[in-house]
Amino acid sequence: MSIPVPLPRVAAFEKLGFGLFVHWGLYSQLGKGEWAQNIHRIPAREYEKLQSTFTACDFDAEDLARTARDAGMKYIVLTSRHHDGFSLYDTCGLNTYDAPHSPAGRDLVSEYVAACRKYGIVPFFYHTTIDWHWEYRTTAELSQEDFSRYLDYLHDSVKLLCTNYGPIGGLWFDGNWARRQDDWREDRLYGMIRRYQPEAIIINNTGLGNLGRLGHPEIDSVTYEQGSGEPLDREGHAKYMAAEVCRTMNSHWGLGGNDLNFLSPAEVIRLLARCRGCGANLLLNIGPEAQGKVPEYEKQLLRKTGVWCRLYEEAVYGPRPAAGIVCRQGDLMLREGSDFYYFASGLGRCGDSNVTVGANGIGSRAVDNFTEKVTSVRWLDNGEELDFVQDPAKGMLSIFCTGFPYGTDTVVRVAKIETKA
Ligand code: GLC
Repeated sequence: MSIPVPLPRVAAFEKLGFGLFVHWGLYSQLGKGEWAQNIHRIPAREYEKLQSTFTACDFDAEDLARTARDAGMKYIVLTSRHHDGFSLYDTCGLNTYDAPHSPAGRDLVSEYVAACRKYGIVPFFYHTTIDWHWEYRTTAELSQEDFSRYLDYLHDSVKLLCTNYGPIGGLWFDGNWARRQDDWREDRLYGMIRRYQPEAIIINNTGLGNLGRLGHPEIDSVTYEQGSGEPLDREGHAKYMAAEVCRTMNSHWGLGGNDLNFLSPAEVIRLLARCRGCGANLLLNIGPEAQGKVPEYEKQLLRKTGVWCRLYEEAVYGPRPAAGIVCRQGDLMLREGSDFYYFASGLGRCGDSNVTVGANGIGSRAVDNFTEKVTSVRWLDNGEELDFVQDPAKGMLSIFCTGFPYGTDTVVRVAKIETKA
């Protein structure tokens, strides 16, 4: 048994590390999540009216791309079409349920792609595979024939995305879990993508109940919907697949107007560190407002996360999990060549006992199975050298972690460990 080697495009995807998921569409006007049409049983004719009020007047693709960049994110996955069937892109006559036929009157995907290019962000397209609009236009229960016609429509839609916007990062499908028993003709769909976008990453979400499940052999990354970062055992797999955790920062993907259940920057930083510790990407979601504005809280949260990403940049994107090494305090160790990166959590602040509540977490931290000869250990944020003791023959390493300087608390602090080859 062995672990397969990633294809270059898959290795490049892993290095993107942190991405922004954007759920935005007609449903954003209702502010009740992207499943509102289905869950609140809104009749299709009623729901479709949302197209006539969709102006996208607050959608600023450049602001979106900058928000991602400032958050330390390297890619965005935008809902080019979600389950409601409405497309943010020009469907070029496939139907009129798209942004150009709304008061927006523009191809929003084309603005998105241009803005991503400008800010060095890799654009990905989320694309639904189930389609409530299509279903309602045909029959309530799709016959095999209807389904086959629908697959042609899906294929033609995706072909537009592959041919009209230049090179893209990848396609992120979602919905096959709704008809597991059916033949989705994935060979045909993925074959077409490979023809027009040979470097594109292909993902097909396996859904909430199937975290990390392997799919079709063309798939490049497994998904962990609402996961929190679990290592993927690749032993014996036919192909090396990347892993991506996709997460909401509150309780909905699309805007939830009455949803107060938001993560804090500290929680996002811990989550991101944990995902990277497992070798997974983190795709963190925002649900823009009705006409496309990125909500303030989300923006602030992303900005704070960006500060952390910049401080520890060297450790966040390139390094991979250091196989076999065990950090006893639940910390994480990544590796790139002869350099190691120690992610320390729960570190206290240095200072006076009248202002810093306990100095917990300051002191020695033990690492097992570390056999390289260490030459130096230092915090990446301020360059401070750390004391350590080690016995490479026994695989024992102990690092003396000093606390955060008073005035600072970056939640997860990263030390660089240099070793002699
Ligand atoms: C789910 C939902 C969907 C959301 C997606 C993101 O499968 O159906 O609304 O877009 O997960 O992971």
